[in-house]
Amino acid sequence: MCVCVHAFVHFCVEHSLDAQKAAPQGFIMNNNKRGEEREFYSLDVGDSTFTVLKCYQNLRPIGSGAQGIVCSAYDHNLERNVAIKKLSRPFQNQTHAKRAYRELVLMKCVNHKNIIGLLNVFSPQKSLEEFADVYIVMELMDANLCQVIQMELDHERLSYLLYQMLCGIKHLHAAGIIHRDLKPSNIVVKSDCTLKILDFGLARTAATGLLMTPYVVTRYYRAPEVILGMGYQANVDIWSVGCILAEMIRHKILFAGRDYIDQWNKVIEQLGTPPQEFLMKLNQSVRTYVENRPRYAGYSFDKLFPDVLFPADSEHNKLKASQARDLLSRMLVIDSSKRISVDEALKHPYINVWYDPAEVEAPPPKITDKQLDEREHTVEEWKG
Ligand SMILES: Nc1ncnc2c1ncn2[C@@H]1O[C@H](COP(=O)(O)OP(=O)(O)O)[C@@H](O)[C@H]1O
Ligand SMILES: [Mg+2]
Repeated sequence: MCVCVHAFVHFCVEHSLDAQKAAPQGFIMNNNKRGEEREFYSLDVGDSTFTVLKCYQNLRPIGSGAQGIVCSAYDHNLERNVAIKKLSRPFQNQTHAKRAYRELVLMKCVNHKNIIGLLNVFSPQKSLEEFADVYIVMELMDANLCQVIQMELDHERLSYLLYQMLCGIKHLHAAGIIHRDLKPSNIVVKSDCTLKILDFGLARTAATGLLMTPYVVTRYYRAPEVILGMGYQANVDIWSVGCILAEMIRHKILFAGRDYIDQWNKVIEQLGTPPQEFLMKLNQSVRTYVENRPRYAGYSFDKLFPDVLFPADSEHNKLKASQARDLLSRMLVIDSSKRISVDEALKHPYINVWYDPAEVEAPPPKITDKQLDEREHTVEEWKG
């Protein structure tokens, strides 16, 4: 029998989530008990209505994304502030249902300080027939990385943020999760400079390539092998980290393509057309397209990231700037076989000052549902 979203929400209520110990009993889809409606209240948040457990008070919108709206709230049971994300109609189609299910299962399994932790999950609907909305309660952070990118950070903060991103990514990789879609809006930070990754990226089957039907999402951070529909390995995520580091230094998106095709143009305009050796790895139709683009020589990393972009008051900072640039030049490599790995990046001089084996080598989570990405179900099945 498949354990899908409805069953999962139920499971979280019945079992192991710590938050549940403190929460009122029997509030979710518990059609046999009377009075459970009173455990919920509704309020309007922007265009949406949040129907949440009464233990969550002072809701304020703090963000929105492809899946829905996120509010901050005070949790009277846990006596702390939390973030509540409403997955709007996760069952409207198979892609959404699958994504909701995947996110919930992974959030529950993964336990690392650089990955957002799940505190609770609930649905106000009582029966499977009515089951429509899912609310996810998480640790509350202060801002997403888009907001941090606007700021002038010193090398200490910059390298510490990168270190934490890499620790989170390494942990996901250890669990067999290759993200492929890291972007600043899905990375959150606290004012003490701690960082957490919010989501788990593309499911193995969800990527769309250069010549496939586009749909509206941010793809500035996607690696060439994703854009070009090639095979990928774990260092696909290093590309995204490189794009994010570059953006923190330039305060501007590095490769701001209008669509997938333009995305590739932006990459080669700056980094140069890759050699024949790389083109040979592409499938025929993509190679024909890529070969017919104008040829670019690209720019050196000294030109792409000149000294003036970095804080450079002292000799110490000059050294740091050249280390950061060196790291960029190893991350932003079109051919993934020549790109730095996550482990190598963690040992890079710009990053290794923070190296703590307890953070880097945390034991990998056990993902019980091995076929997470391969599974195909109808919307009704996902719901169940
Ligand atoms: N736990 C959290 N703490 C603080 N802000 C958050 C949290 N979760 C989400 N946000 C904010 O809400 C935005 C959208 O959340 P996200 O989980 O990325 O939604 P979606 O999956 O729809 O893209 C994020 O970019 C961030 O600004
Ligand atoms: Mg998001």
